[in-house]
Amino acid sequence: LKKHVKKKLIFNGKSILVTAGPTYEMIDSVRFIGNFSSGKMGFAIAEAASKLGADVFLVTGPTQVKTEDKSINIFNVISADEMLDKCLNLFSQIDICIMNAAVSDYKPLKKFDKKLKKDTDLLKEVKLVLNKDILKELSDIKSDNQILVGFALETDNEINNAKTKLKNKNLDAIVLNSLNDSGSGFDCETNQVTFITKSISKKINLNSKSFVAHEILTEIANL
Ligand code: CTP
Repeated sequence: LKKHVKKKLIFNGKSILVTAGPTYEMIDSVRFIGNFSSGKMGFAIAEAASKLGADVFLVTGPTQVKTEDKSINIFNVISADEMLDKCLNLFSQIDICIMNAAVSDYKPLKKFDKKLKKDTDLLKEVKLVLNKDILKELSDIKSDNQILVGFALETDNEINNAKTKLKNKNLDAIVLNSLNDSGSGFDCETNQVTFITKSISKKINLNSKSFVAHEILTEIANL
C-alpha cells in the first residue's frame, strides 16, 4: 500500500531546492543590512514539496520559523554570498529550484571586525556593492531539464516588472508577490500571488501560506 501511495505523489524522486528568509549583510561585528522577510512562505513551500514526495533542500537566511518535518535538509546561512555558495554546491543534484529568499541586493564593501564608533565617517558613509544575483548565477549554468522558479516582490507596475524578471533571469516561472494586496507580504500568515510563465498568468487567491505553496507547486508540476 505504501508503495502505491508513494507512486501517486507528484514530486516523488525529485530534488527541490528552496531558498527562504532574508539575508543579513554585516557592516561591523554588531550591525547589518537586512529586510523584513519572515521566511514563512519559503518554509511553507519546503513543507508542501516534502509532502508531495520531493527530497527537499532548504537554504534559509536568519529566521524564527521552524519546521516539524525532519526529512527536510536545512542549511542555515547569513549573507547572500553564503546563500549563493550553498546553492551552487547543491545545484547539480537539483531538479527544481524555487528561490523565495529576499536576498539583499547590496552588501557593505568591507566588513569591520570590531564595532565601529558612532561618530566615524566609516559608519556614516558605508560603501555598498551589489551582491551577486543567485537566480541569475544558477540560470547561467542550468541544464535544460532543470526548472528555475523565482519570486518577484513589486509595488508598482507589478505584472510587467515580473515579466521582465522572468525574461532577464531566464526563468521557467516567476511568482509575483504584490505588496499592494492586503493579506500578503512579509509577516503575514496568508498570501496571494500570481504565477507567471511565458504563456500563462494565473492568480492564486488569498489563502494560508501552506495552501498557496501547494497551489504554486501544482503549477510547477504542470511545467
Ligand atoms: N534574487 C536572488 N539574488 C539576488 C537578488 C534576488 O536570487 N541577489 C532572487 C530572489 O530570490 C527572487 C528574485 O530574485 O526570487 C527577484 O527578487 P526581487 O528582489 O523581486 O528582484 P531583484 O532582482 O532584486 O530586483 P529589484 O530589487 O530591482 O526589484
